[in-house]
Amino acid sequence: MQTVKTTNGVEIPQLGYGVYEMTSEEVREHLPQALQLGYRHVDTANAYFNEVAVGEAINNSGIPRDQIFLTTKIYPADYGTQETMPAIDASLKRLGTDYVDLLLLHHPYGKYVEAWPVLEQALAEGKVRSIGVSNFPIKKINEIAEVASIFPQVMQIEMNPRHNQHDFKEQLIGRGVVFEGWYPLGHGDPELLNMPVFTALAEKYGKTNAQIIERWHMQEGNVIFPKTLSVEHMKQNLDIFDFELTDDEMARIDAIPQKPYYVVPEQAPDFFMQKYDYSTQVRPFKNTLLQK
Ligand SMILES: NC(=O)c1ccc[n+]([C@@H]2O[C@H](COP(=O)([O-])OP(=O)(O)OC[C@H]3O[C@@H](n4cnc5c(N)ncnc54)[C@H](OP(=O)(O)O)[C@@H]3O)[C@@H](O)[C@H]2O)c1
Repeated sequence: MQTVKTTNGVEIPQLGYGVYEMTSEEVREHLPQALQLGYRHVDTANAYFNEVAVGEAINNSGIPRDQIFLTTKIYPADYGTQETMPAIDASLKRLGTDYVDLLLLHHPYGKYVEAWPVLEQALAEGKVRSIGVSNFPIKKINEIAEVASIFPQVMQIEMNPRHNQHDFKEQLIGRGVVFEGWYPLGHGDPELLNMPVFTALAEKYGKTNAQIIERWHMQEGNVIFPKTLSVEHMKQNLDIFDFELTDDEMARIDAIPQKPYYVVPEQAPDFFMQKYDYSTQVRPFKNTLLQK
């Protein structure tokens, strides 16, 4: 598997498996299939309410822990000088592991500036191997940079051919930030998947439209973790390393008009600031912001 390196030399497999909106039961059924097929990168979050099931699947897989890249994220109510380390420890406990490979601040609200030095401390203590942020605008990244010894190593953000983030990448150029894309397939939106440009390229290369989009991500240098409950799609999503889009084809995809699925609100919507009881491992809310 191709990897992308963080500024401290941690290698992130460029293609992984995301478990957003998967219940613990779905994780128990599908994550073992994904690991067996060769996935070695799993993206979860405390707010996905499935960390326990993720940890069990990894620990029961027979695959050495150091061969799996595991990401989790903590929610804004857990940010703060006092709050963040207990939240990290609780995630590690639920995941049944001594460390995660990447820890992210999930959303740009609350005491994120106070939380950042705690992430650096967790890195120094070996509880996490790399640290970053998700959904942060440049202004708030710069606020973190003022207190940071380590500039955020990873930015996880919506990214797909209709939200290619070229402008944002430009603003962080030279900082060595790895860009991870959520909604890499537009959350499965047929309006994106069925665009004629992908259909034509799929025909040319004998691939599916989704594989063309994933190949575009690879050549963009993006890290992605498409979510799927289908074994067939799991296999397809791994099978994107035997062909290459030409510069002209990449440019055609880059020319697609931009239409984000999600615009990060300036102020925190209420449910982002709530303190949840993660011991239940049953997601108590349906995220209404992230529409198809
Ligand atoms: N940091 C954040 O705020 C944030 C937000 C959202 C997501 N994420 C992360 O990003 C991951 C991916 O995002 P996502 O799950 O929302 O969206 P996504 O990966 O863009 O799309 C998932 C959808 O695509 C379909 N799909 C997957 N592979 C396919 C293929 N080969 N052909 C056709 N359809 C395919 C799946 O349906 P089937 O089950 O039928 O295959 C599913 O409906 C999440 O799981 C999570 O880890 C992070």
